[in-house]
Amino acid sequence: MRIVLGVGGGIAAYKVASLLRLFTEAGHKVTVIPTEAATRFVGVATWEALSGNPVSNSVFDDVEKVNHVRLGHEADLIVVAPATADLLAKAATGQAGDLLTNTLLMAHGPVLFAPAMHTEMWQHAATQANVETLRSRGVTVLEPASGRLTGSDSGPGRLPEPEAIFAAAMALAESAVGATASPAAEKPLAGRIVTISAGGTREALDPVRFLGNRSSGKQGAALAAAALAAGATVRFLAAHMDVEAPAGVELVRVESALELREAALKAAVDSDVVIMAAAVADFRPAEFSDTKIKKVDGEDAPVVRLIRNPDILHELVERRNAEGGQQLIVGFAAETGDAQGDVLEHATAKLKRKGCDLLVVNQVGIGRVFGQDENSVVILSGHGAEPQSAAGSKSDVAAAVVDRVGAELARVFPAL
Ligand SMILES: Cc1cc2nc3c(=O)[nH]c(=O)nc-3n(C[C@H](O)[C@H](O)[C@H](O)COP(=O)(O)O)c2cc1C
Repeated sequence: MRIVLGVGGGIAAYKVASLLRLFTEAGHKVTVIPTEAATRFVGVATWEALSGNPVSNSVFDDVEKVNHVRLGHEADLIVVAPATADLLAKAATGQAGDLLTNTLLMAHGPVLFAPAMHTEMWQHAATQANVETLRSRGVTVLEPASGRLTGSDSGPGRLPEPEAIFAAAMALAESAVGATASPAAEKPLAGRIVTISAGGTREALDPVRFLGNRSSGKQGAALAAAALAAGATVRFLAAHMDVEAPAGVELVRVESALELREAALKAAVDSDVVIMAAAVADFRPAEFSDTKIKKVDGEDAPVVRLIRNPDILHELVERRNAEGGQQLIVGFAAETGDAQGDVLEHATAKLKRKGCDLLVVNQVGIGRVFGQDENSVVILSGHGAEPQSAAGSKSDVAAAVVDRVGAELARVFPAL
């Protein structure tokens, strides 16, 4: 594969030497295009020696080769790492002041940006708007990792590890090839927008305390990875998670059930599929204290009164039905058996109540499902199909659910 590796002027440029190594060792031909600023961090000699190819950042070098047009045309994949705030802005506004930005405008293959910058720069509305613009054009913009930044501070803004960028780049290139080679058979969700919620919501009591649950987000993350592999654009609504969101999703972070409701209603508007895998708190504290609740000598412990949270899944189904939308809605049920019925009886009643198309049911208990790497589920259909069991790693279960989503989508909405 011919890869163009654009390098932006950030401190993390040095890490990209390892990424370049991963590409070349996997047999790819890499042309490195550092920006002028990038060469202040890592010199041209490093890129030339490691890539085995000449390196320039000017459109006026080797003009007879028309590099400003040719490189983007010929590249099977373009990866920009670290993608600076400046490069994201230039790419979003179509600027072409140097060889890298020209190449981005001439891209014929998939493009992946791996941003790295200070947290404030990343979270700035301008940067976020640029990221959104790029994503809306089909460019993959990875979420930066969280952790120690250039100085003593830390937060989201670190360049993902070279191995993670390499894996995301290979998956992107593979899905681009798959999309042209065999869109229907191997990419059952190609061209689909899939919204997936994951993790556990946290319901604040005061600035330091919350009511939470044991969800790790592993199953939701595995679902997102499976949906990406099936060719979908994935909007990932992440409540509290113990694992990272998979690279390549459009990530929306939420904290509480109310925040998740807002994000889900927004993301679902033009989604073909909505999978609600997050563990959403049924109740939240009726009162939130702006200051930390203190223990006072001689006073009883405070009583926490709970109120019900909205039923997001039900609301999504109601809105879909009211608008006559062709959207497949999948719920997750974490059930325990009790005196009133076993797990499947409770789940069947829940499927009827919620009105969703598929309900993925697992049996939970202390140490069971939550946080584990294995899972075992039954997929119930609201359209009369036989229940289907799936077991194994959470990735195996995710693949089975995504397969079933593809099949159900074709069956329930054949016109889509
Ligand atoms: C020490 C240092 C570290 C920097 N790190 C970053 C960074 O991580 N991300 C970023 O967006 N800009 C960073 N900058 C600012 C960029 O270098 C600056 O915006 C430059 O114009 C980017 O040019 P380019 O996008 O053409 O590479 C840094 C600057 C300095 C001096």
